[in-house]
Amino acid sequence: MVLPDLYYCDDKLSFAYATVRTRWPKIIEGAIKDAKSLISDETSRQIFINHLQQLLKSLENDDKIEYFKEEDIELIPELKIYNQSLTKLNDIKLTTWKTGPWLYLECLFYQLINLWCKQLDLSIDIFENLKNQTFKQSELGVLELCKHYSGLDLQNKSIDDKTRELLFKEFIDISLWGNATDLSLLAGNVSLEDIKSLQGAEVRKQNEKNILINDIDQVWNHLQTSRKSRIDIVLDNSGFELFADFILILMILDTKLSEKVHIHCKEIPWFVSDTLPKDCQLLLDQLIDKDFYHEIHEKQESKDVINVHDKLKQYIDSGKIVIESDPFWTLDLNFWSIPKFNNLYTNLLKSDLIIFKGDLNYRKLTGDLQWDKTTPFKTAIQDLATSKLPILSLRTCKADVVVGLPDGVNEKLIETYKEMGNEIGEFWSSSGKWAVISFSDGQ
Ligand code: F6P
Ligand code: MG
Repeated sequence: MVLPDLYYCDDKLSFAYATVRTRWPKIIEGAIKDAKSLISDETSRQIFINHLQQLLKSLENDDKIEYFKEEDIELIPELKIYNQSLTKLNDIKLTTWKTGPWLYLECLFYQLINLWCKQLDLSIDIFENLKNQTFKQSELGVLELCKHYSGLDLQNKSIDDKTRELLFKEFIDISLWGNATDLSLLAGNVSLEDIKSLQGAEVRKQNEKNILINDIDQVWNHLQTSRKSRIDIVLDNSGFELFADFILILMILDTKLSEKVHIHCKEIPWFVSDTLPKDCQLLLDQLIDKDFYHEIHEKQESKDVINVHDKLKQYIDSGKIVIESDPFWTLDLNFWSIPKFNNLYTNLLKSDLIIFKGDLNYRKLTGDLQWDKTTPFKTAIQDLATSKLPILSLRTCKADVVVGLPDGVNEKLIETYKEMGNEIGEFWSSSGKWAVISFSDGQ
C-alpha cells in the first residue's frame, strides 16, 4: 500500500505551522524562566539557558537539523534511532526546523532539552512548575470527581453487569475529557478558564455529541470475553488528566473489571505535561497537602479527597496498580514498530486491553500521516491491527490527523468551525473540541 505523506511544518493548513512558529518559542521562553528557579548551580544554569537561546535562534533561522554526536549517543543510546530516522527523512528532503516533519521535530525538541540536562548532570523536570501550577487550578474539578467517586462507594456494593457497563462507559468518558487539559495548549489561545470548564460533569454531558467516533460498545463486548486479569494505560498528561485516569483505574479495580492495571509513563520531560513516574507520587502527595489544595482542606471537604488518596495508595502498595516506564515512548518512532521492540511487545501482549491516552499517542498510532479522514482506524494503524494487541485510543483531537469519520463529516466540521468565527475551517481537528474513541481488537 502506498502510504500518504507526513504532516510538514511548512504546511499552512496544518497545526504544525503555528506550533513551530508560535508555540515552541513560548515553551522555550517558559523553560528559560523556570531554569532560574530550578537550577541552583550558576554555571550549569547559564550553559542550559544558552542552549535554549541557541535553539530559539535555530528555529527562527530555520536551521537544518544536525545529527547527534557519538558522545551524545553514549549518554542517551536512544538518540541513535533519531539519527537513523533523520537519514531517512533527509532522503525525502533536507530536514529543517520550519519545513521538516512535525512529529519527528517535536519529539526531537524534547530530546534535545533532555540531552542538555543530562550533559550537565541535572535531574530536573524543567516543566514541573507549570505542571504543578495547572494542577492547583484544577482544585474544583478534582473535588467534584472525588465526591462523585466516593459517593458511589463501589467497593462495598454488589454490582450487576448492566451497572458495571454504565459505570465503565461513564468513567471512560471522564478519562477521555481529562485529555482536554493539555498544558502545551496553554502556549496557544486556550485559557485556564477554558480548561477548567472542560472538567465539570455538565460540560461532559454537553460534549457527548462531540465524540465523532465511539467504539465503546465494541470495547465492552471485548472485555466480556477477556481474562479480566490486566488492563494497561499508556498515559499522557500528568495533573488533571492523570487524576481522571486514576479515577477510571479505581473504578476498574473496585468493580473487578480487571485484577491489575499497569500504567506506562515517560522517562524524560515530554511535550510539557506528560506523566513521569515521579508525577504519580507527587499527585498523591498534592491531594492531601493542605497548602496545595487550600480550599478543599479549609472547608472541611477533604473526606472524599482523602478517600481517593488512600484507595490509590492501597492499590499501588499492594501491586494492583503497577507503574512502568520505557524509553520507547519517547522515541520519534510511531507505534507500528512496537512488535520490533521485543521486551515491550511481550509485556503488552499480556494485557486484555491497552488504552492509549491523548493526542500524541493517537498521532503515533496512525503514523501522523495525511490519511483521508474516512480511512478506517484499522487501516491507519497498519500492522498493529493484526498484532494481537487490543488497542483503545481515547483522544481529544489536537492535531491534524483523524481517521474513521463517516463520509461528509469532515466537510461539515470545516464549515461548522468557520461558522464559529475561525478563519481556517480545517483547524477544527486541532481545536480540542472534538474527540474520538477508537478500538481495534488486534486480531
Ligand atoms: O496540539 C498541540 C500538541 O502539543 C500537539 O503537538 C501534540 O500532539 C499534542 O498537543 C499533545 O497532546 P496530548 O498531550 O494530548 O498528547
Ligand atoms: Mg501530552
